[in-house]
Amino acid sequence: MNNQCGQKIPAGDNTVRLVAQDGEYSYPDGTIALSDINLQVRAGEFIGLLGPNGSGKTTLLKLLDGLLYMTSGEVLLDRMNIRKLAPRDIYRKVGLVFQNPDDQLFAATVFEDVAFGPQNLGFSRSDLAQRVACALKNVDMEGHEKKQIHKLSFGQKKRICIAGLLAMGHEILLLDEPTAGLDPQGESRMMELLYHLNRERGVTIIMATHSVDFVPLFLDRVLVMSRGRIVKQGTPEEVFTSPEEMAEIELRLPQVAELIYLLKHEDGLPFDKLPLTVGEARRGILELQASGNAAPQKQ
Ligand SMILES: Nc1ncnc2c1ncn2[C@@H]1O[C@H](COP(=O)(O)OP(=O)(O)O)[C@@H](O)[C@H]1O
Ligand SMILES: [Mg+2]
Repeated sequence: MNNQCGQKIPAGDNTVRLVAQDGEYSYPDGTIALSDINLQVRAGEFIGLLGPNGSGKTTLLKLLDGLLYMTSGEVLLDRMNIRKLAPRDIYRKVGLVFQNPDDQLFAATVFEDVAFGPQNLGFSRSDLAQRVACALKNVDMEGHEKKQIHKLSFGQKKRICIAGLLAMGHEILLLDEPTAGLDPQGESRMMELLYHLNRERGVTIIMATHSVDFVPLFLDRVLVMSRGRIVKQGTPEEVFTSPEEMAEIELRLPQVAELIYLLKHEDGLPFDKLPLTVGEARRGILELQASGNAAPQKQ
């Protein structure tokens, strides 16, 4: 298996890669960070973890990466209990990209940083250069091997963190708020990059995010967390229902959905479904106009 450059990780037959069973986690100071965590991640999925600050997203990602162990319950990676796997066996398959790239990057140059992981996994010198070049290509940083890390922009640093994991051959990427701190264009580019890795390279992705407006554009499935529990999960259509329900779980609808919801429920425009993206909303409005129903139905 190889997720470098042109090669694609075989999607498998919807194989379950990661499982959390009846998971609970308490920090040593007694904070109960997670309770009753049950989830399955299948090969090739692109999953979002949504939830307000403190709801347990980062803790869950660390548990799925084997950086922390459940206080009770288990995490299984390819049906093996993650406690029983050597770090090497975990890190060949799963990698976590921290929220702040400065917590992850440590070498002086891009090459040294991206090469560090595969070097430790014992790849030969000739393989290393190739792996680094391919990983950089995959994150749109081709040819930046000699660049000094401290001279990179924040968004470039985030992409180098991802390259470091891809160079090790990771098939499952866990990302903690990969779009946080990026400018609007950087946010879109990051989402497109992740989408590309998922769809074209076959990388399974689970990302914590507050970028609600991007969720329906890119993600297959959403897990909503609140106070350490997964309180809702499903496709974006299943999760994003009404502003009231979203407010209960301390989230909001994508902005365009909020607008159409108001037009339907406050102004009486007869939309039959709630569009979640600008494209869907545009089609819905044009359909209403074509059917002659674009005028409000009530005062
Ligand atoms: N190192 C720690 N020690 C004690 N409590 C922690 C620690 N890290 C996080 N927590 C607590 O665990 C809960 C979940 O935090 P976290 O997983 O960081 O949430 P999120 O990523 O959704 O913001 C919060 O109540 C937080 O205060
Ligand atoms: Mg967090």
